[in-house]
Amino acid sequence: MNSLSLEMADCKMQIMLVLCSFILLATLPPIYGWGTDGHSIVCKIAQSRLSDAAVDAVKELLPKWAEDDLGSVCSWADQVKFRYRWSSPLHYINTPEICTYQYKRDCKDEDGIAGRCVAGAINNYTSQLLTSNSASNKAQNNLTEALLFLSHFMGDIHQPLHVGFADDKGGNTIDVHWYKRKAVLHHVWDTNIIETAEERFYDLNVDSMVDAIQQNITSEWADEVKRWETCSLNKTACPDIYASEGIKAACDWAYKGVQQESVLEDDYFLSRLPIVNRRLAQGGVRLAATLNRIFG
Ligand SMILES: *[C@@H]1O[C@H](CO)[C@@H](O)[C@H](O)[C@H]1NC(C)=O
Ligand SMILES: *[C@@H]1O[C@H](CO)[C@@H](O)[C@H](O)[C@H]1NC(C)=O
Ligand SMILES: *[C@@H]1O[C@H](CO)[C@@H](O)[C@H](O)[C@H]1NC(C)=O
Ligand SMILES: *[C@@H]1O[C@H](CO)[C@@H](O)[C@H](O)[C@H]1NC(C)=O
Repeated sequence: MNSLSLEMADCKMQIMLVLCSFILLATLPPIYGWGTDGHSIVCKIAQSRLSDAAVDAVKELLPKWAEDDLGSVCSWADQVKFRYRWSSPLHYINTPEICTYQYKRDCKDEDGIAGRCVAGAINNYTSQLLTSNSASNKAQNNLTEALLFLSHFMGDIHQPLHVGFADDKGGNTIDVHWYKRKAVLHHVWDTNIIETAEERFYDLNVDSMVDAIQQNITSEWADEVKRWETCSLNKTACPDIYASEGIKAACDWAYKGVQQESVLEDDYFLSRLPIVNRRLAQGGVRLAATLNRIFG
């Protein structure tokens, strides 16, 4: 071969390599950008606890591509956050640095508009679904979206740093090291703790982690589950309770002992994982209880 054809062969080789790696990447299971697994765990737990009436109603509302699996759609609200810009303040609550939450004081967006926080959104989509039988409501609201938002926000409100300090944007401005990797504290709680648990204890299998949490729901935590499900005054949803627990867990566990550039390793991981497991369990139990109350 002369040098030109050599070069061409080389070029073809490179194109093949690039193509092949594309194909490989496309067929490998996605490395979930994480909140995904947390949300999927909450929704899988919830789906297994639905009443017959709620199962039917959820089936009816789920989009076709969900294939009747609530767990597969619980990150939809994150995917539309940029398309539906109005929805992005609905994922969290900002509090002052005093480890308490009050709806009136804290549930608003950055422009101060009342009710625009994750607790307000849970109330909003709960009441849309509650009146889903009325024709005018059906015309006004997209109830499929209401179900997907409610399912997602019930997960978010149980992530301690989604009810966090305004000053550090719920841990988003706190730079840490998760073992050897750089991360922000918020992401550690969205993703890294769950990911590390899956690697270390569950063979990278989300369903095994769901099974382990479900086991504790029926044994270890069985006595508490009734209380988790109950709303005061027979309300359909009670996000203020979940948010108050959230900021407390943020102070007692998420922020505790963490500064800029902290290195978080086994000490932090092993002491915080039980909190994450419990919050995922509570999120799933309460999503199911809420949907059961909505759909009877
Ligand atoms: C309530 O739901 C509607 C429809 O999705 C949305 O336009 C509105 O911003 C929501 N408000 C809150 C506080 O969730
Ligand atoms: C409701 O929302 C879903 C998801 O965004 C969309 O696919 C569907 O077309 C919407 N339905 C109506 C009637 O607008
Ligand atoms: C379940 O409870 C046991 C006993 O407290 C605990 O050791 C285990 O880590 C828990 N597992 C999960 C997934 O919550
Ligand atoms: C809650 O509902 C139960 C059963 O329907 C009823 O007996 C009880 O009085 C209600 N409690 C309140 C505070 O409304």
